[in-house]
Amino acid sequence: MNKGIIMYRSNTCGELRLSDAGKKVTLCGWLQKGRDLGGMTFIDLRDRYGITQLAFNMETNAELCEKARKLGREFVLQISGIVKERENKNLQIPTGEIEIVVEELLVLNEAKTPPFTIEDQTDGGDDLRMKFRYLDLRRTPVRNNLMLRHKMAQQTRSYLDAQDFTEVETPVLIKSTPEGARDFVVPSRMNPGQFYALPQSPQTFKQLLMVAGLDRYYQIVKCFRDEDLRADRQPEFTQIDCEMSFVEQEDVLNMFEGLVKHLFKTVKGIDMQSVPRMTYADAMKYYGSDKPDTRFEMKFIELNAASNNVVSGKNFKVFDEAELVVGICAKGCASYTRKQLDELTDFVKRPQIGATGLVYARVNEDGTVKSSVDKFYDEAALNDWAKAFNAEPNDLILILAGAADKTRKALNELRLEMGTRMGLRDKNNFSCLWVLDFPLLEFNEEENRYFAMHHPFTSPKPEDIELLALGKLGSVRANAYDLVINGVEVGGGSVRIFNKELQAKMFGILGFTPEQAQSQFGFLMNAFEFGAPPHAGIAFGFDRLCSLFGGAESIRDFIAFPKNNSGRDVMIDGPSEIDQKQLDELHIALKK
Ligand code: AMO
Repeated sequence: MNKGIIMYRSNTCGELRLSDAGKKVTLCGWLQKGRDLGGMTFIDLRDRYGITQLAFNMETNAELCEKARKLGREFVLQISGIVKERENKNLQIPTGEIEIVVEELLVLNEAKTPPFTIEDQTDGGDDLRMKFRYLDLRRTPVRNNLMLRHKMAQQTRSYLDAQDFTEVETPVLIKSTPEGARDFVVPSRMNPGQFYALPQSPQTFKQLLMVAGLDRYYQIVKCFRDEDLRADRQPEFTQIDCEMSFVEQEDVLNMFEGLVKHLFKTVKGIDMQSVPRMTYADAMKYYGSDKPDTRFEMKFIELNAASNNVVSGKNFKVFDEAELVVGICAKGCASYTRKQLDELTDFVKRPQIGATGLVYARVNEDGTVKSSVDKFYDEAALNDWAKAFNAEPNDLILILAGAADKTRKALNELRLEMGTRMGLRDKNNFSCLWVLDFPLLEFNEEENRYFAMHHPFTSPKPEDIELLALGKLGSVRANAYDLVINGVEVGGGSVRIFNKELQAKMFGILGFTPEQAQSQFGFLMNAFEFGAPPHAGIAFGFDRLCSLFGGAESIRDFIAFPKNNSGRDVMIDGPSEIDQKQLDELHIALKK
């Protein structure tokens, strides 16, 4: 404990040990739990650092013991007493060998009975815990998440600082742009009818910092996106945002592989090997996802490929008519019961997944293969299936068929489900992957135009630039990369366009008129006329990185005051209506 602040306490509730026995100490904290054993009363006193047992003896100090018995949970106490070796030691906690025989007790504040128990395991439901988040944060596992987050931020800064990156703050009130997700907007009182937007990322500003010659920039920064929420998405979230000048893709990959390794080493004590790389095309072909979970293999095998077609021409219409017949081999799962297979069929038929059915084949102990479509496929044909999958006795083959993209997506979900069922997705096992060579553009059927897959500032691969001229827009690959850990997209970035003409061309492809491009992004294109260096960068989803390191699915657990799935902060009850006077000042008339 810092000796400078001994007015309230001499020690924390987490630091006293057997070697302190005999010392007189003063502690402060919250009453976690009391136990009244007649002659003795015990209290667990909790603070951020741990829990220390307080002992009150009816025989030696009846008055104090009576006082202690009347205290309620979460009362804030200051006590003084003597550290003593415990009779019944609790070796589960670091302070479990001692207790404090209390001589003085001061109630610093009383507390209402909390709406849920403030212990590692709580009886509080999600909504209640969010409403009283400050009480939830008193719980050790939740608080530990914030400590982990703090450590990750510290280590990020330490690594990047050592690599000569400068942290620069960029503005939060900026301008709305039509690309990307929806913006959160803020009305401007001083500019009637005009709105700021909150940044979805500091993308254009970090590029301007490169034009400014900062060379290596980073920022741990809040970003805002008005999009539908999921476990790994919040409307306001944090990025480790980075940009470098005079670099190529390889430099960025190496620099940030270094950051990831540094974080694994310093925060988790894990020596991460070099991060494997996979092209986007292979990720889609073998895993049906641009963020494959590579903790386990179970790669896709295509069964109706021109080079090795083992399914067509047997009068099974579903396979004959399918654009793609593709499957996975689940090792050792041939013993799945009918019920389990029905569950899997129901799983793939769920509307979110959208497959029309599931074909399976079991490789028996004796090597024979039995399928759910034996009517169409004889023994020799089924042996060909098994061969295509390299399947061995006791393996289970699961096959989907249909339109290529949709079927790959569905099989990705089935692969992940099987990975979970087979216990192959251990949260303490980390598998990192760079996914490279993303397409530059993706076609949006609804809007009937191309969108930038990453963002409009991403450069095409030089060797694919001529495809742009040929109008083969869907085939152009970008110098863009994602970092994936355990199937979660943890970061993404690209080599940027730094030439005004190419940037203008890109906006043209995205359907901007030159005037629109100038009015939206003129500030960037004009800057490119003043000596923009080649530059590239990346941003990591800091909340996602923390939740992965903490072994949790939801990023909410790693955000002090998160929003719920409707984008509400149920504790402060925001967003909220504002009064007429405020609306008038902001020149806003609400629709009746
Ligand atoms: P991108 O849009 O890929 O790139 O975002 C980078 C990373 O931020 C995380 N992320 C989110 N995390 C929580 N909630 C959200 N709503 C959310 N949205 C994104 C993801 C993602 O990989 N400016 C570019 C980066 C660059 O090119 O340098 C950008 O923002 O982990």
